Amino acid sequence: MRRSSRLFILLFLVAGIGCGGTAQQEPLSSRVPPAGRFAVAADHPLASLAGARMFEQGGNVVDAAVATSLALAVVRPYSMGIGGGGFMLIKLAGEDPVALDYRETAPAGASVQLYVDGRGGVIDKKTVWGPFAVGVPGHLQGMAHALEHYGTLPLSLVIAPAIELAEQGVTVDGHTHRAMVRLAEVLDQHSGSPFLEIEKIFLKEGAPLAVGDTLVQPDLGATLRRIADMGIADFYEGELARRIVAELTARGGILGEADLAGYQLAVRSPLTTRFRGFKVVGMPPPSSGGACLQQILTVLDGYDPRAVDRPTYTHVLVESMKHAFADRAAFLGDSDVHPGVTDDVSQMLQPETAAAIRASIGPVAVDPARYGKAWLTEDGGTSHYSIIDSRGNAVAGTDTINLTFGSLVVPPGTGIVLNNQLDDFAVKADVANEYGLKMSSRNVISPGQRPLSSMSPTILLEQGRAVLSAGASGGPKIITATLQSILQVVDFGVAPKDAVAAKRLHHQWSPGELLIEPGVDSVIVEQLQQWGHRIELAESPLGVCQMTTAMGGTIEGASDPRKGGQPVIGELR
Ligand code: GLY
Repeated sequence: MRRSSRLFILLFLVAGIGCGGTAQQEPLSSRVPPAGRFAVAADHPLASLAGARMFEQGGNVVDAAVATSLALAVVRPYSMGIGGGGFMLIKLAGEDPVALDYRETAPAGASVQLYVDGRGGVIDKKTVWGPFAVGVPGHLQGMAHALEHYGTLPLSLVIAPAIELAEQGVTVDGHTHRAMVRLAEVLDQHSGSPFLEIEKIFLKEGAPLAVGDTLVQPDLGATLRRIADMGIADFYEGELARRIVAELTARGGILGEADLAGYQLAVRSPLTTRFRGFKVVGMPPPSSGGACLQQILTVLDGYDPRAVDRPTYTHVLVESMKHAFADRAAFLGDSDVHPGVTDDVSQMLQPETAAAIRASIGPVAVDPARYGKAWLTEDGGTSHYSIIDSRGNAVAGTDTINLTFGSLVVPPGTGIVLNNQLDDFAVKADVANEYGLKMSSRNVISPGQRPLSSMSPTILLEQGRAVLSAGASGGPKIITATLQSILQVVDFGVAPKDAVAAKRLHHQWSPGELLIEPGVDSVIVEQLQQWGHRIELAESPLGVCQMTTAMGGTIEGASDPRKGGQPVIGELR
């Protein structure tokens, strides 16, 4: 029998075994809860420490999450910050999980016409650099809401580590240095020095700081002090708001005081599905992360990983990724603006949909239409942290200013790097953004709309207890990095620190190549090639994942070595 026919029969049998149920596996997490401990995993060691300090001061997972996120705004200022937005999934013991959406919105003055030229062509980089790229930031509303409703400590205390880090400085590590190198390259592409403020803060005489140098951000420190003293109203309606708007207006931009004053965080019900007996909790639209990741899991749940060889498992995984990203392109957008999104996401997660996808996966790779090539970013301007404790509480939070260093606009004297989240919209349906992602008319820029995201904060529950919190940075690779790290733990019993470090692959349906990191098992790669996958070696890491777990009677935390983070594990008070 030809190999391909054998494979197809094997897949059919395996799918048959799993249909309608989960793979018959031993439960991964012990029924015995771990002793009183917590874990914080961020993509910078000092941010993990900031979160841990809140536990030491008697705080809970949400206090720790807000302190970690605010510290990240200082130590990874090119990835995320108060000039951006994000999502936070919160699961407190005994309570339903909740999804906080503090994603940026398009300003009221935004319209497609602003981003196209006289002949209807998309104006290059207008959603990427400069004032028209900036969405209304939601980060501080997210932090304040989380603390007020789910935390126990005051903002003035939780923000203290971030102020300290901004004022006293942070040692430049390899990741920060590489971001600065890219900043210098990008600034070189602009004549007339239009981005002097960001250059002043992050470069020294036009050159990146070296690894080991200290990055001090006195302006950002002063801004954070204002917020500690006056609350977040200063950012949305006070002096900080005026400075942000003054800078954008001087540059001819559209974001006005009414946009900031009118920004509203949304509290949403998370998306849920079941996988191998766990309840998977994820982010609903305007993220595509929860829908795509959960659709892939529902497909894989019909296969028994122990009954299938690794190349076959990987083939099914990649085909499932293509289906999910094709659905992302067709259906997803802001459900507040396009209510049809909700029904389509529900359809994406139906068992019948998973069964249809399984039935469509044959012995060779499906050849998606060939489109342009994704612009490869290292991990985008995004940062993820995960927190868990032994009492069944967890937070998964992902924050972003979109691409590295966002719009490059910093209102003078504030230290706030403003996002370029409007590039997560499509200017026109089916015209790819900087990540090579094509999207439907549901994600075309319109006033007040939230741009579609790939951020995928995810929490796994077992018997109502949080047992795993994970997520990633890296644009569309967020989805596939989070997914594969979870699969490493759940399907292969890999420890979290090895799970986030494991070599990964990424397929986003369009463009049609399967990206793989150097070091993926050559047996798998060669077999996938034989089955028709068009493989390319990734030139940069395929996402950066953080994970914390409360499984098997222990608390573990893992920060992806690709960005140099370190987790902190400690005793609960
Ligand atoms: N800006 C990256 C994302 O939200 O997917």
